[in-house]
Amino acid sequence: MEKLLEQIAQYKEEIVAIEPNGAAELEDYRIKFLGTKGIVKALFSQMKQVSNDQKKEFGAVLNEFKQLAEEKYEAWKSALSGDEALAATAKGEAGFDWTLPGDPLPLGSRHPISLVRNEIVSIFRRLGFSVAEGPEIEDDWHNFTALNLPENHPARDMQDTFYLNQTPDWLLRTHTSNVQVREMQKNKLPIRIVCPGRVYRNETISARAHCFFHQVEGLYIDEQVSFADLKQTLYFFVQELFGRDVKIRFRPSYFPFTEPSAEMDISCLLCEGKGCNVCKQTTWVEILGCGMVHPKVLENCGIDPNKYTGYAFGMGIERITMLKYQINDLRLFSENDVRFLQQFKASF
Ligand code: DAH
Repeated sequence: MEKLLEQIAQYKEEIVAIEPNGAAELEDYRIKFLGTKGIVKALFSQMKQVSNDQKKEFGAVLNEFKQLAEEKYEAWKSALSGDEALAATAKGEAGFDWTLPGDPLPLGSRHPISLVRNEIVSIFRRLGFSVAEGPEIEDDWHNFTALNLPENHPARDMQDTFYLNQTPDWLLRTHTSNVQVREMQKNKLPIRIVCPGRVYRNETISARAHCFFHQVEGLYIDEQVSFADLKQTLYFFVQELFGRDVKIRFRPSYFPFTEPSAEMDISCLLCEGKGCNVCKQTTWVEILGCGMVHPKVLENCGIDPNKYTGYAFGMGIERITMLKYQINDLRLFSENDVRFLQQFKASF
């Protein structure tokens, strides 16, 4: 304490002795005594060294010293000529130079799943599709029965379903196909929609599977819609998304809600025909399921299958994102690692 008081007395003498002289020296003075690393600040930080019973006294001396230092500064500044005073003010009493360029604010980035979802939706919008959404907590009928998967249908096992404990008729939707049903029930035809959304399945989490993921469903219902329409629409879609060089192929498949059903592959973009891990040496990668809407599904939703036909398709956004950005682990999408997320700064 004594040492500190002695020091303060010396600084006081020093301040009193300084002859005010020009803006540049004023700034030196400010930095030395009043700056963020200056003497006044340093002395205040000594406060904790002082014993409790002496704190009050020391505090009073310190405040007085601070006042002296500030008064000197103000007097000095007002003695400067107009321009010099302005310059001194611009540097700022708080030690901040207001004329410096600002620090750029770091911009966030969109999640890759959102980027790809938006891109998919925008391609279909250009073809006249609009966006429809439906609930993630769904009843059994909209998720399964209406889609031609009656109770005890073996295909229900293909999708490990999360049921709600208290109301076993309710579940977390296993696919976005429930939105098809809800839109068809509205009975406004023709229908031309894409339905992006989150879906849930009771799967063990790994690099290739997760208990939740995202899909985009498509549905087109009108008079005389054909499989050729489906093919051409999807061909246009992948060319827009992956580039003109991409090839497609359809393989026969089975979904209860479509007949005929198919899965669509695209030529592997990573190895371009040479064979690699992603395409498992086949040079083709599956990206979606599709088909002509089953007449029974139309009937279940109150649409006359003798008058109307339609196609539907469903794709996983994660899978497409992984192909597009060469991501090899599905878990990265939900871990919120900023180092991963920061890399996506596209315009969608
Ligand atoms: N719902 C299917 C699934 O989650 C995907 C699907 C396949 C949707 C064929 C469709 C379709 O609309 O026609 O695996």
